[in-house]
Amino acid sequence: MRFLYVLGVSFVLVAGLLSMVFATDVKPIHLDKKNTRNGCASCHLGFGFRDGGGASKCLSCHGPSDGQTGLVSRGTQLKDISKDFAKNYHHPVFEKKSAHTTREVLPEIDPTMPRHADCADCHSPHFVSTDNPYAGLRGKKIGNLSAPITKEYELCYLCHSDSANLPLRSVNKRVEFAIANPSFHPIEGEGKNQAVISLIRPYREKKSSPNDISILKCGDCHSSDDIASPRGPHGSKYQGLLTDNYSTGDNIVESIFAYGICYKCHKRSSILGNETFPLHSRHITGERNPKAGGTSCYTCHTSHGSVENKYLIRFNRDYVTESSTGKLKFVEKGIYNFRGECWLTCHGVDHNPRSY
Ligand code: HEC
Ligand code: HEC
Ligand code: HEC
Ligand code: HEC
Ligand code: HEC
Ligand code: HEC
Ligand code: HEC
Repeated sequence: MRFLYVLGVSFVLVAGLLSMVFATDVKPIHLDKKNTRNGCASCHLGFGFRDGGGASKCLSCHGPSDGQTGLVSRGTQLKDISKDFAKNYHHPVFEKKSAHTTREVLPEIDPTMPRHADCADCHSPHFVSTDNPYAGLRGKKIGNLSAPITKEYELCYLCHSDSANLPLRSVNKRVEFAIANPSFHPIEGEGKNQAVISLIRPYREKKSSPNDISILKCGDCHSSDDIASPRGPHGSKYQGLLTDNYSTGDNIVESIFAYGICYKCHKRSSILGNETFPLHSRHITGERNPKAGGTSCYTCHTSHGSVENKYLIRFNRDYVTESSTGKLKFVEKGIYNFRGECWLTCHGVDHNPRSY
């Protein structure tokens, strides 16, 4: 029975694919003989339809250049994607035999399923096209229905939001980026703060001219450290699979490198010049004793979004504890006048509260 079912599904799929091959309009990249010389056999040898040869098969064209000869039609050299996967922080594509199957449904509903990420989870090899990198991928939820993915974050949410097998220390990204939150980095829509004075052009709070960028992609922060690498969150030498370094500890000597990921979009001179929070510099550089350093942005700010506070405020409990009256909170005092108060204890200094 199962065999007949698989055969039936495969037949429908093959018929569909073949009609795409013979159709005259623009073809998906991999089914176009202008790109792959051997058509279906570029990936499928014999009847190996289960995984199309797996991730290592993809590297026969997208890997180190010597493997590409003869497989890619045009003389073009594809960029070597394997370098990023060899870095310390990467999606675990090659670690173990992938748990990916053609018929799995994501987000995962079984908490015991092993976490995985295969090339084919993020790229549909039959449908991927230059104008739509997500073509052929499904999973975005509209009510109870699953719809085609059209935006990058919808792809990421397949494994980093409502997955029943989410790692314990990981937070549901859909919850963090929800536009109903008091603050968030703008992924699903424009942000709420109209006075993010530190923003470096073209980044803006609201889009008012064609070149402005007011909505980010996860990939603006999570991609290779090397801009010459292929696009995509494949791997990076920086922790968190980030494009730039982020030091998240305490007693850190401030530098453009230490908070590189933030200074990519937020002007360092504005932050250290206290243009909004009047005590930024004092905390970040440790003004009183700069050799001992100051504290990371991460001690006060979450990177994604906050369900409780404005300005992405979330205190890092590794260093911050309750105030002498047992309170740990941030209170905003009016909009765009850069005033507020904090209730907490840090470095033995009681804020009960301290106002600015
Ligand atoms: C770029 C590599 C590549 C090319 C070219 C390619 N495939 Fe595939 N194919 C794959 C991969 C990878 C899978 C597994 C997909 C998955 O796991 O989601 C697959 C799966 C399949 C399946 C099984 C699908 C299922 O739902 O079980 C069939 C049937 C298939 N391919 C037919 C074809 C045909 C016919 C062609 C040519 C028109 C073709 N493929 C071209 C990589 C490729
Ligand atoms: C036979 C060689 C070959 C194999 C095998 C192959 N690809 Fe490709 N792939 C290409 C070529 C050629 C292009 C077009 C590149 C271009 O236009 O710059 C491409 C393009 C792509 C793109 C789109 C890039 C863009 O410009 O947006 C993705 C994503 C991709 N491949 C993923 C995969 C994955 C995943 C696999 C394995 C399942 C795979 N490829 C296997 C040859 C191959
Ligand atoms: C098919 C599942 C899958 C998809 C889709 C996916 N990821 Fe992942 N991702 C993983 C797995 C598995 C890990 C390893 C750690 C874990 O289990 O969460 C990981 C790790 C990461 C990490 C490193 C986390 C750390 O602890 O440092 C980042 C950052 C990340 N993914 C971002 C993304 C982004 C951005 C997207 C969308 C473009 C995405 N992921 C899509 C499965 C996925
Ligand atoms: C403005 C930059 C930025 C954007 C945009 C961004 N991230 Fe992150 N992300 C970070 C930083 C910085 C860290 C490391 C520090 C931390 O854990 O907060 C991180 C950590 C992570 C981690 C590992 C820790 C955890 O929370 O599980 C995952 C997974 C992740 N991001 C996924 C995503 C996904 C998915 C998106 C898009 C929906 C996204 N990020 C968008 C900056 C960003
Ligand atoms: C966690 C999801 C994820 C995994 C796993 C993944 N990719 Fe990607 N990849 C992406 C995203 C997102 C992009 C960027 C798409 C865009 O913005 O155009 C991308 C881009 C690409 C590109 C186009 C790069 C360029 O600069 O044109 C290629 C080729 C590619 N991936 C191949 C692969 C191969 C081969 C594998 C497995 C070895 C793989 N990817 C694994 C998410 C992933
Ligand atoms: C001691 C806690 C603390 C630390 C450390 C901290 N911030 Fe802030 N930050 C705040 C507070 C509080 C606000 C809100 C000020 C207000 O009331 O408008 C803020 C506001 C901001 C804003 C929004 C307004 C603007 O200036 O554009 C940005 C961006 C920002 N911080 C970035 C950073 C970066 C980057 C770092 C690290 C280099 C950092 N912060 C370190 C507490 C902190
Ligand atoms: C790719 C660009 C980019 C990067 C990288 C980036 N930000 Fe932002 N950030 C933005 C944009 C755009 C906004 C404006 C959102 C709005 O208008 O509400 C913003 C807003 C903020 C705000 C104010 C949010 C609010 O609602 O008040 C804070 C705080 C902040 N960022 C801190 C950081 C920190 C800390 C880092 C480093 C971990 C960082 N950002 C990295 C683009 C970025």
